[in-house]
Amino acid sequence: MKNRLVLVTGGTGYIGSHTAVELMNEGFDVVIIDNLSNSDKSVLDGIAAITGRRPFFEQFDICDKERLADFFKVYKKLDAIIHFAAYKAVGESVEKPLMYYQNNLTTLMNLLQGMIEFNVSNFVFSSSATVYGQPDVLPVTESAPFKSADSPYGNTKQIAEEIMRDVVNANKDLYAISLRYFNPIGAHPSALIGELPRGVPNNLVPFITQTAIGIRDELKVFGDDYNTPDGTAIRDYINVVDLAKAHVVSIQRMIEGKSKRNLEIFNLGTGKGSSVMEIVNAFEKSTGEKLNYKIVGRRAGDVESVYADTKYANKELGWKAEVGLKETLLSAWNWEKYVRNKKR
Ligand code: NAD
Ligand code: WQD
Repeated sequence: MKNRLVLVTGGTGYIGSHTAVELMNEGFDVVIIDNLSNSDKSVLDGIAAITGRRPFFEQFDICDKERLADFFKVYKKLDAIIHFAAYKAVGESVEKPLMYYQNNLTTLMNLLQGMIEFNVSNFVFSSSATVYGQPDVLPVTESAPFKSADSPYGNTKQIAEEIMRDVVNANKDLYAISLRYFNPIGAHPSALIGELPRGVPNNLVPFITQTAIGIRDELKVFGDDYNTPDGTAIRDYINVVDLAKAHVVSIQRMIEGKSKRNLEIFNLGTGKGSSVMEIVNAFEKSTGEKLNYKIVGRRAGDVESVYADTKYANKELGWKAEVGLKETLLSAWNWEKYVRNKKR
């Protein structure tokens, strides 16, 4: 879509940067707000190298309501907002719950308030499969009930969806789409942007690539006594570019007036579950690298198995995850090699 401007909050982060690229590839103009609390400004160079264009960039904290109002006064004609900016480390949220509630909910409320005051109609929110906990029925559909949240982080996503529901109910000109991501992995095929975890990674795939490249000694596989075919836990790993594309179609849906309700909710997954050991084996096969790993006890708070029912998203959004697991793991590996070469 030409001459359409989308605000991407958290746009120098992992998923935001891939989404900025897909939006720009589709002709959208993009303005990013990020305070760089968990990302680097050089990501903008990666986006520019891939798309041949530079997104507008504003560095500030979205919790700063006055600064945000100034932003809305300058960028008067926003067609939509995609809100990625949040803290996302589950363990840290248990240690510092207020930091998570403060950041993840204040940013959301400030943006919704800004949309009402400055007449922006369309909002896409980064939700998470964490809202389902361990579902009673697999694959899990969007209508499955919330389970009591395992962490303050997870709770911020549940509360955020409730806030959006109440706000669109009270403001019928607002349209929101909440996208519940399963496990986003991989990097752009150019290897110019990808995931840049700070410190020791919490997530499986960055831990694997850092182990394979020699930064970590070994991967600890958390638990092989689950009630799954090989005993390791099952997740729905989705390619980050596929995930990014779902944001573009969500924006197009709202701009074209195709939303069926003021708040719509979609699962973003592949529909296929993979165990930790399947990921390890697929990584070794696709990269030719041998991975040093050890089975250890379960990680506190982990669920056994969760993967998406994607029928509703596939049908309504006309979107489907396409990139296979091996290709995705190879993209994560190529990105890891690129990052380490650059640092040398
Ligand atoms: P990320 O940390 O790479 O990106 C988030 C970005 O937001 C960072 O660049 C950070 O600097 C910025 N940010 C945070 N607070 C801010 C604030 N107050 N003001 C301005 N900028 C701020 O994370 P990601 O993996 O790209 O995740 C994006 C979104 O998707 C988050 O809302 C996250 O909770 C959600 N999500 C992520 C996953 C996942 O596995 N990565 C899964 C489900 C949902
Ligand atoms: C995947 C599997 C681990 C690391 C988290 C958040 C969730 C969402 C995505 C934001 C699990 C196992 C992992 C390791 C391992 N984020 N594992 N060794 O826990 O499914 O989801 O990220 O919304 O909210 O909870 O993802 O990548 O941490 O773990 O064996 O060193 O890999 O036990 O089975 P998870 P993950």
